Order: sequence, then structure tokens, then C-alpha cells
Amino acid sequence: MTAALIDGKAIAADLRAAVAAAVSRLPRAPTLAVVLVGENPASQVYVRSKVKQTAEAGMVSKEFRLPLGASQSEVEGLVQALSADPEIDGVLVQLPLPQGLDEAAVLAGLDPAKDVDGLTEIAAGRLVLGKPGLRPCTPEGCVILAKTVHEDLTGAHVVVIGRSILVGKPASLLFLEQNATVSMAHSKTKNLPALCRSADILVPAVGRPLMVKADWVRPGATVIDVGINRVPASDQGEGKTRLVGDVDFDAVKDVAGALTPVPGGVGPMTIACLLRNTVIAACRRRGWPLPSL
Ligand code: GUN
Repeated sequence: MTAALIDGKAIAADLRAAVAAAVSRLPRAPTLAVVLVGENPASQVYVRSKVKQTAEAGMVSKEFRLPLGASQSEVEGLVQALSADPEIDGVLVQLPLPQGLDEAAVLAGLDPAKDVDGLTEIAAGRLVLGKPGLRPCTPEGCVILAKTVHEDLTGAHVVVIGRSILVGKPASLLFLEQNATVSMAHSKTKNLPALCRSADILVPAVGRPLMVKADWVRPGATVIDVGINRVPASDQGEGKTRLVGDVDFDAVKDVAGALTPVPGGVGPMTIACLLRNTVIAACRRRGWPLPSL
């Protein structure tokens, strides 16, 4: 192993502690509403963690569950009601929504001032324009982790693999905002391994288990693995599973200079950044001074 491990768990814990300290100095605790539709097991785990960690940071969390068969208008109605509720500072709609529901239409009803996930058109537009705003949590977490290795990202070549609305596209823009030179790679990119080998910082966010091999990584490069994939772990018994990233960790750890583990890398940062966004949203809405976080 040559790569230094980037300890997302510890870095996220530090950020959560800073958020909790900031919350304790606010006139009142911010309130986050979390909306979960259906029974996606991974989403249930994420939502449980989000609710728990919001409370641990001293904020109020309210969980709103709708059944798998909820209609488009029921989901939109709930999101609009939470947007209009003056007690609520942030609203998070856990994605993906069950098949058949129109995510974009649901997010269109979300008050951009409460969009702690940074997924509304206003948030995306502000990011493109370089205006301050609520940034998507997982990409923000990637930048924070990269900056623990490269204090100044100016001129660094960042290759982001994946162009999703949740991660790839906003991650590319956030790295650009840090003055990095960004390549946005995707499934149609030609000679992907060669492009990846030219990266100072490689950010795979595709959801393909173990896709990035050792010969995709320049010796000494930093690798921020966004993938969280559940795969069979037959060596641990019948029906057992384990989590792996988009990076073949066991091979890449001998080539990269720094590498995030899965789990314990980007994952914990997503929730820490969500908590930070909730504090920022509450302060902006209520006219409180913004804490430096
Ligand atoms: N599903 C997977 N990651 C996320 C996230 O960061 N936010 C939301 N709302 N849903 C997700």
C-alpha cells in the first residue's frame, strides 16, 4: 500500500462538530424536514443516518414518509406544504423516488431557500453562474476531501467520471470554482483509462463496482471514490453482501498517492455537508449572521 487513506469518517466528524458548535450559538435550533417515499432499503438507511445526525448536531429533524404507491400530486403536495411551513428551514427529498414519479416536478415545488441538497434549478443556476448558494452535498464533500490533500487546487487536472445531476455535473463545476482544470468523462468518452491516467485528482461517480483499475491511475494521483455499490460477498457466506466503490481499492492503493475508502470516504461527508447547508439555509432565511463553516 502506497496510498495515504483519506479518512472521510474523521473529516466528516470534525465538520459535524463545527456545525454543532455553530448551532449552539444560534437563537434557535434549525429544523430539517426529510421526505422518504417508498421502501428503497438504501434510502431507508441514508434517511435514518440523516435524521440521527441532524439531532446529534442539536437541530430538529422531522421525517415524512409516504408509501410506495403515493401519487405524484401527494408527493408534490407534501413538498409544497413543507416549503410553505415557516417553522421548517430545510427540506430534503431522498432520491431516487420510486419509479413512475417525476423527480424534476417534485423538486420544482421546493422553495430554493430551503433546498439543502442544492438540487433545484435555482441552486444549479447559481452554481453555474458562480453565485453563492446551497451546493449539492456529495460533490461538496468531494472537494473538501480533495483539499485535505491539495490545499490549493489551482491548475490541478481533475477528471470526474459520470455526469449525473446529483454528483458528476455539480462536482465538475465545484472543482472548476476552485480553479482546477476539469475533464468531464462519461460512458461515451473515448479512451477513458488514458484520460484518467492524466488526472492529478480522479473522481469516479458512476456506480460501477471496481471499474477503475490500477492502470487507470497515475502513480501518486489522488482518488476520490464516490461509488457505493452493494455486491455479493460469497466468501463471507451465502447471501452476504458488502459495499465497494467504483475503484478497485485493493489494486489502486498500491499506485495512488491518496485514496478514499468505501465505506468511510465520501459517504459520511454527504451528511456532514447536508447539516452545514441546513445551518446556512436557516441563517439566510431568518436573517442571522452566517457562521464560518
Ligand atoms: N440519494 C443518494 N444520494 C443523495 C443525496 O445526496 N441527496 C438526496 N436527496 N438523495 C440522494
